[in-house]
Amino acid sequence: DISRKVTVAVIPGDGIGTEVMEPTLGILEAVGERHGLEFAWQHHDWSCEYYTRTGAMMPEDGLEQLAAADQILLGAVGFPGVPDHVSLWGLLIPIRRAFRQYINLRPVRLMPGIDSPLVLREGTEIDFVVVRENNEGEYSEVGGRMYRGTPDEFAVQESVFTRRGVERAARFALDLAASRRGSLASATKSNGIVHTMPFWDEVVHDCARDYPGVEVRDYHIDALAALFVLDPGRFDVVVASNLFGDILTDLGAAIIGSIGIAPSANLNPEGEHPSMFEPVHGSAPDIAGQGIANPLGQIWAASLMLDHLGHPQAAAEVVSAIEASLTSGVRTRDLGGTASTTEVADAVLRHVTSEG
Ligand code: NAI
Ligand code: MG
Repeated sequence: DISRKVTVAVIPGDGIGTEVMEPTLGILEAVGERHGLEFAWQHHDWSCEYYTRTGAMMPEDGLEQLAAADQILLGAVGFPGVPDHVSLWGLLIPIRRAFRQYINLRPVRLMPGIDSPLVLREGTEIDFVVVRENNEGEYSEVGGRMYRGTPDEFAVQESVFTRRGVERAARFALDLAASRRGSLASATKSNGIVHTMPFWDEVVHDCARDYPGVEVRDYHIDALAALFVLDPGRFDVVVASNLFGDILTDLGAAIIGSIGIAPSANLNPEGEHPSMFEPVHGSAPDIAGQGIANPLGQIWAASLMLDHLGHPQAAAEVVSAIEASLTSGVRTRDLGGTASTTEVADAVLRHVTSEG
């Protein structure tokens, strides 16, 4: 028996996070069974709700508890009344940094039967991946504020770009491009940000020399954002710094029709630490508790986990099942349908178990 046991820390979080997580675990169990993967779930109720009870988003030894798991599945955190920086800096960012999840990976793919808000030229396919540097760059704690409340008040926030940090993001993106259509777009702004961005460009092109089969092209971030809208079919892999990547990935999620579908992986590619898989969407307090949240973003995120676990076939089956469920017309309200969270998840489960 080659069945491999995988321990997964499960953090459903708040709002619809809890609603989309549960059916996703059932789908993973069904796919896992067919591919020699046995899951042990390690449930954590860490959330904004937990914060209002305890004053912290997770217990003091939270990161140690997570370190014992192989991977982390996250729903979404956020609740009205708890400031967003609390949930971000109290849970998500510590996890991304402690576990060196230096890649944030977001597939941008227009699924069958879904309308993009863009008017696409005949024959345009949207199928690319954004690789966002996830540990450094513009999201740094270096800086400060002085002369608060006076006319002399000022704020300084430094960006931090290290050769090691840029290089590992670039190499990850180049590897990915080499395994796909061989094209890499690098987001820059070297005309306005005159120290860090030329450095970024230099390191990316240094690395690219080892990948003669990949064509690398630099785009200024403003022009790149416009091209996401005007010509999304041209992209294969896009690599970007933390801030640029953050903005591009939300734009990417928007052009594929619904934020409810888009997945995201926070990867420690070496596997020295757990990676974290989550949907792009938040806790959606406006629809929480109604059972109408789209579970496909969470399910697609689970598929990214299967891929990272070294089971690309299992991962592909989940994506095919998502596509099949969409084609069959079972859709939640955000996609113009009437189905509930459970009905959509059940449809995916049916397709997953009928494959192979
Ligand atoms: P959101 O993604 O929660 O919701 C934006 C809009 O999209 C809402 O109208 C919502 O109903 C809809 N929506 C989102 N996911 C959906 C799904 N699966 N199915 C159907 N409709 C869906 O973003 P918002 O409203 O800005 O933030 C709400 C809370 O979530 C905030 O507290 C925010 O901080 C948090 N948040 C957490 C994230 C995370 O845990 N990684 C990411 C983004 C936001
Ligand atoms: Mg964002």
